[in-house]
Amino acid sequence: MGTVFKGYDEALEREVAIKVLSKQLSEDPETVKRFKQEACSAAKVTHPNIVHIYTRGEEDGRSYFVMEYVAGRSLGQEVQEQGRAPVEKAVAWIREAALALKAAHQQGIIHRDIKPSNILLDSCGTVRIADFGLAKVVKADLGLTKTGMVVGTPFYMAPEQGKGGIVDHRADIYALGVTLYHLLVGRVPFDGGTPLEVMLKHVSDPIPVPKDTVLESRRDVRRVVEKMMAKDANDRYANYDDLIAALDGLRPRPLTPASPVSRLVAAAIDFFLIGGIAVPAGVLARFSFGTVITSGRPPFLELSELFLNSMRAMSLLILYLSYAHGRFGQSVGKYLLNLCVVRSDGFPINFKTALGRTLAAYFLVIPIALFGDIPVPRVLLYLLVAVGAAFTFGYLLAAFDPRRRALHDRLCGTVVVYKL
Ligand SMILES: Nc1ncnc2c1ncn2[C@@H]1O[C@H](COP(=O)(O)OP(=O)(O)OP(=O)(O)O)[C@@H](O)[C@H]1O
Ligand SMILES: [Mg+2]
Repeated sequence: MGTVFKGYDEALEREVAIKVLSKQLSEDPETVKRFKQEACSAAKVTHPNIVHIYTRGEEDGRSYFVMEYVAGRSLGQEVQEQGRAPVEKAVAWIREAALALKAAHQQGIIHRDIKPSNILLDSCGTVRIADFGLAKVVKADLGLTKTGMVVGTPFYMAPEQGKGGIVDHRADIYALGVTLYHLLVGRVPFDGGTPLEVMLKHVSDPIPVPKDTVLESRRDVRRVVEKMMAKDANDRYANYDDLIAALDGLRPRPLTPASPVSRLVAAAIDFFLIGGIAVPAGVLARFSFGTVITSGRPPFLELSELFLNSMRAMSLLILYLSYAHGRFGQSVGKYLLNLCVVRSDGFPINFKTALGRTLAAYFLVIPIALFGDIPVPRVLLYLLVAVGAAFTFGYLLAAFDPRRRALHDRLCGTVVVYKL
């Protein structure tokens, strides 16, 4: 829509940036009028994260506006040169951009063209958003809502914007979501040969989750990106405060390791909770499947028929703990004691880690449940019990570790902390 020049304001002795609109756009009086209105309203928003507009005018039949010169680079250049950004950095940038968009929205202004090249970083690394309201001028001028054509890049455009529907601040939240995706993954979510193809993907394709990206490994990050980029504007964050709160939730928090006693109490609650189901199930199983169990097993097993069936039902404990930890970071026991399991770096664990961790802690249940009724040499069973005991001892290791990690925590890179 124009060209940006670096200029020098001799009156105030400062560097400025001058955006000169293209000849085509400058020729239409309606556009120039609208451009003036937009520049006036954008100039009224003063916020530390917004590029200030100094003035506007016409010269040789070309419209221009003069804005603050931001000595730095855009997020577009940043991701092009540095590749994927670390989560903390990307989230901090997007949070600052959300603060700026919130201030603008409070004055009734929607950006409509949020993308990495319009988000600048000044020399201190502070986010500055440029080009407020310009997309509106251009779009209205070319009658794009009528023809369905697209101005500029469709890579960050909300489905309703691409379809020419009613656009509100949630289209900016969508574009900010695509920008966050781009920063984290290193490329835009939807690509294609033509703008139309890209737009259609925004409308109907699910958000791709590439392998080995933070979107795959961090469920919490993926959820925020997915909510920002929901196809239906009603499914996105309704306002910037909700978005900012969600972004804050993605930042690392100080961790206070849980005391081994509270962990034991939480484990006991879960154990009795599941035991309350498992043991009666074991008793039931004794009556229902008792005949299936062959005779002539070693005495150790013969004595433990009830125990064996209870162990089978105790597999429930593994499923329950894995699901609860993977989904919520806590089981009922941990919830009651205000504890949660997180990765060593403070971020939530995913289901895979939760399952691995539970199997490491309760792995003895599995071989007994699966192979307990197969006649096996006693020595093997003793071996299993010995390893089980070692793991129980591993649990006690938490008492001596500064981060209060049990053996299964160390193996899986997790830590149990007090929930904030
Ligand atoms: N106020 C500014 N201070 C310093 N550099 C700027 C400023 N505004 C823009 N730029 C730089 O100029 C480049 C071109 O900006 P321009 O707005 O013309 O293109 P764009 O953002 O890629 O597309 P669009 O025209 O759709 O906004 C930006 O990527 C940015 O690096
Ligand atoms: Mg721009």
